[in-house]
Amino acid sequence: MAKKLERIGVLTSGGDCPGMNAGIRAAVRTALAAGVQVTGIRDGYSGLIEGDLVELDRASVGGIISRGGTILGTARCVEFYEHSGREKAIARCREVGIDGLVAFGGDGTFRGAAKLAEESDLRVVGVPGTIDNDIPGTDFTVGFDSAVNTALEAIDKIRDTATSHERLFLVEVMGRHSGFIALYAGIAGGAEEILVPETPTDVEALAEELARGRARGKRSSIVVVSEGDEAGNALEIAKQLGELDPGYDVRVSVLGHQQRGGAPTAFDRVLASRLCSRAVGELVSGNTDLMVGIHGGEVVTEPISRAWEAGRTELPADLIELYRTLAT
Ligand code: F6P
Repeated sequence: MAKKLERIGVLTSGGDCPGMNAGIRAAVRTALAAGVQVTGIRDGYSGLIEGDLVELDRASVGGIISRGGTILGTARCVEFYEHSGREKAIARCREVGIDGLVAFGGDGTFRGAAKLAEESDLRVVGVPGTIDNDIPGTDFTVGFDSAVNTALEAIDKIRDTATSHERLFLVEVMGRHSGFIALYAGIAGGAEEILVPETPTDVEALAEELARGRARGKRSSIVVVSEGDEAGNALEIAKQLGELDPGYDVRVSVLGHQQRGGAPTAFDRVLASRLCSRAVGELVSGNTDLMVGIHGGEVVTEPISRAWEAGRTELPADLIELYRTLAT
């Protein structure tokens, strides 16, 4: 039988995302209900190295479910890439009695957690939290739905002014190397074109397609550009389009970090609550080296290495097909 878990640590690491607070709340309350104490670790792995810790009780996570960002703070910790950095983190866990860890973040966070599991007897479970939705092993990451809704709100507003002025807008969304935000926000916003890193972008063909739309009487066009698109960023593509067809009245809107903030959607609050609660459940049961995820609506677990060994998360082919059908 697995040794009884006395205390877990909870950290958020890498880029923040809406829903992290909902997840922290769920982890704390699930652990306390199971008789396990909780230490909050500030600013990701660096808080573990520096000993920047806080006791979390039920009340300390009250009123945070609706808040964006993370009450624990987050950071990308270079020292943790080194064995010596991780030794300090492991020593800190021993010193304060942490024997399980919920690591909430993206692929880098998971790699760090896996190293800790490999180099110590600490139990670790990763919870996927990133707006990019680029972690294999889960259909959706926490934060993605909120980011899509933030981008969509902006696209809807841009559509109003674009239609009034008969303009073409290029709207750049985040996602790093992944086109998920662009694809979902683009479909939901009725975008004329969606440019993603996963499929080749031909700017000349794009210009022709837009011209056909204009000839059909379209008063506005919106092209959603994923920041990782290989043809360039929205400004660069707008410049190329302007050169190919000077008839365009083109504007560019880069949505940027607003997609990382704001209140999480109901979907993200529920997802974060389910995943973090399950993560604690796994630790209590004696399991380690896992990630939790959602698949077909069910909470599932996978080896944590799935997050980087499974390769890039593919965009669903049916969604790409759908956007092409609806946009033409
Ligand atoms: O991974 C989340 C993300 O917001 C990406 O979409 C974006 O490319 C990157 O982080 C931005 O990172 P930073 O906040 O360091 O500028």
